Amino acid sequence: MKTKVTVIDRDALRDEDLEEAARILKTGGLVAFPTETVYGLGANALDEKAAAKIYAAKGRPSDNPLIAHIASPSDLKPLVKEIPEAAGKLMKAWWPGPLTMIFPKSSLVPGGTTGGLDTVAVRMPDDEVARRLIRLAGVPVAAPSANTSGRPSPTEADHVYQDMDGRIDLILDGGPVGIGVESTIVDVTGPVPILLRPGAVTLEMLEETVGAVEVDPAVTGPVSADVKPRAPGMKYRHYAPKAKLVLVEDEEWSRAHSRDYGRRRTAVSQAVTRTITRLAMEEAKKGRRVGIICTDETVEQYPKSLWVRSLGLRSREETIAHNLFGVLREFDSLEVEVIYSESFSRDHLGQAIMNRLSKAAGYHILKV
Ligand code: TXA
Ligand code: MG
Repeated sequence: MKTKVTVIDRDALRDEDLEEAARILKTGGLVAFPTETVYGLGANALDEKAAAKIYAAKGRPSDNPLIAHIASPSDLKPLVKEIPEAAGKLMKAWWPGPLTMIFPKSSLVPGGTTGGLDTVAVRMPDDEVARRLIRLAGVPVAAPSANTSGRPSPTEADHVYQDMDGRIDLILDGGPVGIGVESTIVDVTGPVPILLRPGAVTLEMLEETVGAVEVDPAVTGPVSADVKPRAPGMKYRHYAPKAKLVLVEDEEWSRAHSRDYGRRRTAVSQAVTRTITRLAMEEAKKGRRVGIICTDETVEQYPKSLWVRSLGLRSREETIAHNLFGVLREFDSLEVEVIYSESFSRDHLGQAIMNRLSKAAGYHILKV
């Protein structure tokens, strides 16, 4: 299959630019498109055969359900059995935006898009290209992140091209995404909403909207083989770079600084930077290609002879989220063998960053 790439001019966005993509979706094909979180790999969510093509293109296990993307809140009703009260509040506060909710599904949604579950994940993205495309297609669009299963999610069209060239019909290139980590996922089917995957709508924001929110254990730690996580995707080793990745964390320091939300993010523990430098130099002496993941605040402290990459400003965690997957992909192409990474706060947006980094490291976290 030949994969076409269409560059979208966001400043002069016209329906004509999206008509081909909408036609492909309507007729059962695959289109990658930008959202505000990461690029999605879209197909008609109501067409099991189209959904099956997504699993094939990504090499994704078929028990891992897809998110149905909608263009307006009124598109939700036909897809679900009921809209719980908490969901109503969350929709009002955060849609359109990086929030996915899990509902009991209606019979309209085929099991082929929900991994056989009787629930469905739904999200209304904030990206204008995504919403216009869904509206033109006239169907809910099932879309996982547009990466090969197990690779970091794509935050620019070129990442999608690397993974999906020859596997899908069309890539809409809408430039780099805004947020850079996937949407927050909340299960609203029970009495208390449960956070299944942290994202840019943070736990603190959710609690402000609906009060108490439970946190699924898969958000913070590894899932043991005998436990079935509520979000099936959380059990797979995601975002994994080819290199061995080790996170270095000074828990005591993080705790001491967590009382001071603003200041904490501008500083980093010296124990962390020193440990990373020592371990990285030891590996380099053995002849290994070594990478370091750090921040603008610390980048000057590391040896120039190593592959040192900053994720952005610790004092502005949204820059860290934005660059995270791109840096992991860059290290893949540099064929680095070992990566040492600084760690981040475990609250606010830091929770999403640490969730992705910990998973990428296979929970290999060195406490100093
Ligand atoms: O930001 C995002 O959410 C991106 C963009 C494209 O919208 N999409 C995305 O999709 O990250 P994906 O497939 O890579 O991740 C979806 C996650 C998986 O962990 C999956 O297991 C979970 O959502 N999920 C989907 N439907 C579910 C359901 N019915 N119950 C529980 N978890 C579900
Ligand atoms: Mg994904």
